[in-house]
Amino acid sequence: MTSNTPLEISTDNAGGGRSGVDLRVSTSSLSLNERAFEEACRVVPGGVNSTSRRISPSLVFRSAEGAILTDVDGNQYLDYHGGFGPAILGHNHPDVNRRVVDALDSCGLPGAGTTELEIELAKKICQHVPSAEKVLFCTSGSQATFHAVRVARAFTGRKKIIKFQGCYHGIEDSLLRNVASQPDQVFRLDAGSAGILPEVLAQTLVCEFNDLDGVEQALAAHVGDVAAIIVEPIMHNAGCILPRAGFLQGLRELATRYGALLIFDEVITGFRHHLGGYQAICGVMPDLTALGKAIANGFPLAAICGKAEIMDHFSTRAAGDAYFAGTYNGHPIACAAALATIEILEREPVYEHVFRLGERLRRGLAAIHQRLGTQAVVTGFGSISVTYFMDGPVETYADLLRNDAARFVEYRRRLIEHGIFSMPLNLKRDHLSYAHTDAHVDQTLEACENVLVKIVRCPSSVAHCS
Ligand SMILES: Cc1ncc(COP(=O)(O)O)c(C=O)c1O
Repeated sequence: MTSNTPLEISTDNAGGGRSGVDLRVSTSSLSLNERAFEEACRVVPGGVNSTSRRISPSLVFRSAEGAILTDVDGNQYLDYHGGFGPAILGHNHPDVNRRVVDALDSCGLPGAGTTELEIELAKKICQHVPSAEKVLFCTSGSQATFHAVRVARAFTGRKKIIKFQGCYHGIEDSLLRNVASQPDQVFRLDAGSAGILPEVLAQTLVCEFNDLDGVEQALAAHVGDVAAIIVEPIMHNAGCILPRAGFLQGLRELATRYGALLIFDEVITGFRHHLGGYQAICGVMPDLTALGKAIANGFPLAAICGKAEIMDHFSTRAAGDAYFAGTYNGHPIACAAALATIEILEREPVYEHVFRLGERLRRGLAAIHQRLGTQAVVTGFGSISVTYFMDGPVETYADLLRNDAARFVEYRRRLIEHGIFSMPLNLKRDHLSYAHTDAHVDQTLEACENVLVKIVRCPSSVAHCS
């Protein structure tokens, strides 16, 4: 990876543009990034099309190729963001793209009946994901979790669901609460958006990840009311909180005992950690699974799969009562991308590669922190890593309240200056891909050490150290 012109960033972000850029200067001295972002802000609220893409520095990207992102000024970054996780093979994979073009040339969007691509892909998912007897395709992870909750309610005739503080399951109303809650909002009614009916949010109970007793208490307090427990089997939306031994198995047993369904949201873990998702690793079988992101290496495909007797409640069957529809569901380009991705995952040592690099990265980072005496926890699983600035352990969302959020974000902003793109938002995780190399890891460790040395030397304000 090369860094043509490393960004010059100070931590003074007054004005909301790229960090350190004084927006009072004349337009002619603005970089292409700044000018393009100003244009974006005139026509797009906030300039970005997803809340979690709103970052400082505000970057406008021109291309993503392998492990490298390039912005409109020509700056290159070694990418650890991976588009929030889809790019397991690396961005813009030529074999995936070729299959997409073939699908466009040969198929288009019939929009009636089904296609050979959809059938072939459904068979692949039922072959690989241990709990998948039947599968339906949609276009986003949010739709997959939305449909999982809807069908769970249809199947059980119950209203309530249990989710975990810190888990994110997309934009659906009944799931959008208690995600990255501030300390005073943890376990209270922390709505993720204005406009959600309070009576909808009230049907969602919030428990602590890794606390089986809390889940049992919630179920016992609402006997016969809970339709489903939904969980990210690894809580990656808060970085990486691993399930304690027995936690997921315990959820399985509690769900069965209280007549609720167990939903694994494997939108991040599916295809990223294993072709069969995390369930293939931990051996716990959910009733329903939501899949997305890495399934199609960046193309918009998601899926809900699970037990046939539950999936048969969807209205795609004549007798089904849980409505399921979408103009672009199972779109040929997305199915072709997923088939190409899965075939590469089947054929090439992708997991071996990203797990090995992940281990190297985490070991290297931990050694740097030890040398420098920084208060940090380096953790992760396989291709996903995160460094929290706190003392361990990290087993619950409550633990994460000790993380130094300002330092977490500052560290990542500084890495961007060094040509390493790690999402500069609190608790976000880093993703390795098949396109990353040992040399990339070496380069990253060097950059991390340089940044950390500055942070350690000048803890109050990194900006003044440079
Ligand atoms: C675990 C999990 N579930 C669901 C979603 C929603 O997926 P999408 O953004 O494709 O709607 C996300 C998105 O980040 C996610 O991380």
